[in-house]
Amino acid sequence: MSKEHPPHNLHVPVLLDATVETLKPKVGENYLDLTAGYGGHASRILDITGNYAESVLVDRDEYAIERLKSFSDRGVRLLHTDFAAAGQQLADEGLKFNVILVDLGVSSPQLDQFDRGFSFTNSGPLDMRMDRRQEKSASTLVNNASEEELTRIITQYGEEPIGFSRIIAKAIITNRPLSKTGELADLIKDSYRGKWKKTHPATRTFQAIRIAVNDELRQVEDLLPNLPRLLKPGGRVGIISFHSLEDRLVKRYFKEQFDLGLESELLPITKKPIAGDIYDVHNPRSRSSKLRVAVKK
Ligand SMILES: C[S@@+](CC[C@H](N)C(=O)[O-])C[C@H]1O[C@@H](n2cnc3c(N)ncnc32)[C@H](O)[C@@H]1O
Repeated sequence: MSKEHPPHNLHVPVLLDATVETLKPKVGENYLDLTAGYGGHASRILDITGNYAESVLVDRDEYAIERLKSFSDRGVRLLHTDFAAAGQQLADEGLKFNVILVDLGVSSPQLDQFDRGFSFTNSGPLDMRMDRRQEKSASTLVNNASEEELTRIITQYGEEPIGFSRIIAKAIITNRPLSKTGELADLIKDSYRGKWKKTHPATRTFQAIRIAVNDELRQVEDLLPNLPRLLKPGGRVGIISFHSLEDRLVKRYFKEQFDLGLESELLPITKKPIAGDIYDVHNPRSRSSKLRVAVKK
């Protein structure tokens, strides 16, 4: 691994060996990383291909982009935007890649830095924006959405039972304005009438609000149809998801492609996803991860 790349202890890449073994990067191939983060996957793949000049790293988080500057020093193009927009832009430019990776979700620094507002263990401002140029934050949502909208978001994106979603939404409406993640977490904890063991009762609501603030499912839906346009014949795309709703979108799209038979552009090569709890047991971040891979015909 090259010494000039960002320190990987900031974020331990998920399913790294499995990703390299299934995407099979080769010397000279070009690479598109649509969620480059702290460059863990990118380092390993670019070390193999050596093709920096024709590769592109994307992230919507300026803090990640800052840390990826060492790659641009070696000729890699960096794009500070969301991957739905990046996918459209690169496809419109007519660029095509041998290897594409999408590693969804949040990075460890996003969770660990209290001032990003993703965490309730370290209370911070209600923010949760991956891209801080965006207007809508967790505060906008929590302090302005209707009770019905909050119930829907918590039920749909947090997969919280509807009864408890309603209780949380009502508690939010009654107690707002809220400004800190800790306040919101305490409110949810106080509304919870059962016993909880491992998972704090606010976990699912925080996930739901994060998904809504960053429009995470729409991002995936918009990106998927552009993937065939972005791949060279024989090119491989891998998608790592952490949430069943995201994985369902990928699985459905790959199945649609498979069902098209001769007319399909992509051939899924992972019938069952490669699961982090089996293939990356030593990395706690991998627990709920799933990798699906497809090849461009
Ligand atoms: C799980 S981390 C990726 C880690 C990376 N593979 C590594 O090895 O360091 C996810 C990254 O994707 C970024 N991200 C998430 N959704 C995004 C989107 N829709 N568009 C662009 N970047 C996104 C986040 O900001 C975060 O830096």
